[in-house]
Amino acid sequence: MPHFLALLTSLFWFLNGPPAPIPVRPAAPPVAPANQHQLMPVPTEVRWGAGRYLAKAGLGVQLETTTDPAVAAAASRLTSRLARQTKGDQAKTGLTIRYGRPGQVRLGEDESYNLRVTPMGMSLQAATSLGVLRGLATVEQLLTSDKKGFYFPEVDITDKPRFAWRGLLIDAARHFMPLPVIKRNLDGMAAVKMNVLHWHLSDDQGFRVESRVLPRLHEVGSGGQYYTQDQVREVLAYAAARGIRVVPELDVPGHATSWLAAYPELAANDSTYGIPLRWGVLNIAMDPTKETTYALLDKLFGEMTALFPDPYFHIGGDENDGRQWRRSPRIMAFAKEKGYLKANGQLDKHALQTYFNRRILTLVTARGKKMIGWDEILGPGLPEDAVIQSWRGRKGLIEAVKAGHSALLSNGYYLDLNYGAASHYLNDPMPTDAGLTAAEQQRILGGEAAMWAEFADSVILDSRIWPRAAAVAERFWSPASVRNVPDMYRRLALVSDKLELLGLQHRRAPEQILTQLAGGKDVAPLQTLASVLEPVKEYKRHFQGFKYTTQTPLNRLVDAAPAESEVARQFAVKVDSLLKSLNSTTAGTTLTPGTRVQITSLSATLRQWQANDQRLQPLLLAGSSLWEYAPLSVQLRTIAALGLERLTMLQKGQAPTAAWQAAAIRQLDLAKAPAGQTELAVVGSIRKLVERK
Ligand code: ACM
Repeated sequence: MPHFLALLTSLFWFLNGPPAPIPVRPAAPPVAPANQHQLMPVPTEVRWGAGRYLAKAGLGVQLETTTDPAVAAAASRLTSRLARQTKGDQAKTGLTIRYGRPGQVRLGEDESYNLRVTPMGMSLQAATSLGVLRGLATVEQLLTSDKKGFYFPEVDITDKPRFAWRGLLIDAARHFMPLPVIKRNLDGMAAVKMNVLHWHLSDDQGFRVESRVLPRLHEVGSGGQYYTQDQVREVLAYAAARGIRVVPELDVPGHATSWLAAYPELAANDSTYGIPLRWGVLNIAMDPTKETTYALLDKLFGEMTALFPDPYFHIGGDENDGRQWRRSPRIMAFAKEKGYLKANGQLDKHALQTYFNRRILTLVTARGKKMIGWDEILGPGLPEDAVIQSWRGRKGLIEAVKAGHSALLSNGYYLDLNYGAASHYLNDPMPTDAGLTAAEQQRILGGEAAMWAEFADSVILDSRIWPRAAAVAERFWSPASVRNVPDMYRRLALVSDKLELLGLQHRRAPEQILTQLAGGKDVAPLQTLASVLEPVKEYKRHFQGFKYTTQTPLNRLVDAAPAESEVARQFAVKVDSLLKSLNSTTAGTTLTPGTRVQITSLSATLRQWQANDQRLQPLLLAGSSLWEYAPLSVQLRTIAALGLERLTMLQKGQAPTAAWQAAAIRQLDLAKAPAGQTELAVVGSIRKLVERK
């Protein structure tokens, strides 16, 4: 659209209010039907048209409301990123933006927007500038290309989030995450409309923020790896410019060895500590009986609540098993005096921790903040205004909202467990079977994906978060009815491409590890093996003979293996599809050409896997650290051969003998054994082939 026309249109809208949505011509075949678009999260309402707005000459932006610098900055980032992709200049004015008022980066702010793309141009309208930021993220995802060039498909979108709290926890305590890592992950969050960075800033292994009032916290507690307050402010500004809140977590009274190293007087057991090199729940705790504990925390909270502007302040509260409290005569005497002993005379740990929580709540509230903590803090006596983050199960979420608390769900969204995106995606924050009243449902604010960093350093963090976090982002934003798993995976692959362009390193970093491991030799066979491996699930990595400490480099094959193997997933989809076609053909009849094509395609993949072991031998034998993965390479060869045998039988119309199947299944069971804390992700689908009668 010529520049003057855009201005005229803008002026017209300015005077007359937003135009009614253009009805989409019903007769036209849509160019981007629902199952082809590349938006993630899926908007609340979308109507695709048949036209395109061509993006040949780049994209210029016409801002009608110019009061919010965040919008101007976001528009400028968008145009330069699009120009990079389209290789166009930015001369053309194609997007008109209009909004009602500058948005506040706070919980519950209006993030809705309306975006219309027509062959004439694009218009984005929102009640607040925050809505504009969300709409711009959609514009960026809409950019499409085909043989004729770049374009935006014609569409009319009316969109708003389902949940107000759509978070990502980044643990910067277990491994320190330097500023660029945090920033590029904020970019990723903004791209998929997440709006809360939960910054886990302290744990046993590190206290990661500069404290001027209690400087030993970062001086002693961080090993030199901490954020200065200026850096914190830089992150806060960076996040705010993307409409993202930052909620800091300072975890007390457990998970706090680094604090005890700095200020031993906090310790329940009067011992002294260094910074632990071990992972795991260390079962230390602060002393809840001493007034000096609260005085120290008050001093720190005074400083930190001023540094972080968000009204919510996370105090952790998780995984204190109370053993140090039980072992301390002083603490037991205190508990007795306060009535925190059970009938049998043992410590009621929960009662004592609730006492601690109430004291903390008073400190946090006095600073004008709302306290949020993990679900362990829930219990009788906890005032309603504490917010509960449920991680141990959905029970905590349901109990919390029934008890009058606001709550967040993180159970089911732990990215560090290495589950597939689908499992997170199908986990909805809103329970449907708990009989919650409307008021109780209202108290479910949303959820947070959690990236704990025992096994993620600053190099591979992105690859442990993305792209799976984008599926979680959709769960939090899109209507509950958006649950089509294959379509989610289709779009996730597209979003993953865009995230990498945005600067995330979820693909690059693992590739670099493989290149380093290959040490100058051909990396392709290593890539083939790594592409069908996944790290062992849950926290099994701690328990498989390899001793990890905070100092262990995360640069082995397991660190380059994807949390969810896309190659294995696509192979499984093809196997399922073949078995479906076979089931729909009558026994004894010849295979259809379509089925033959499916078999040929699977066979090609299996042959590549079968041949890979031999190609990998020079690397495995080169005396590198890769030797520990040799068993998996052999197993891949073996089970690929079994899959091929079975496909050959299918092609020949032969049924497998029971003996062949039994032997094959024994072999497949052996192939399930992990090595180097990884496992083959294709065993299950090859087994399906083998088991087919
Ligand atoms: C937690 O995962 N300990 C909150």
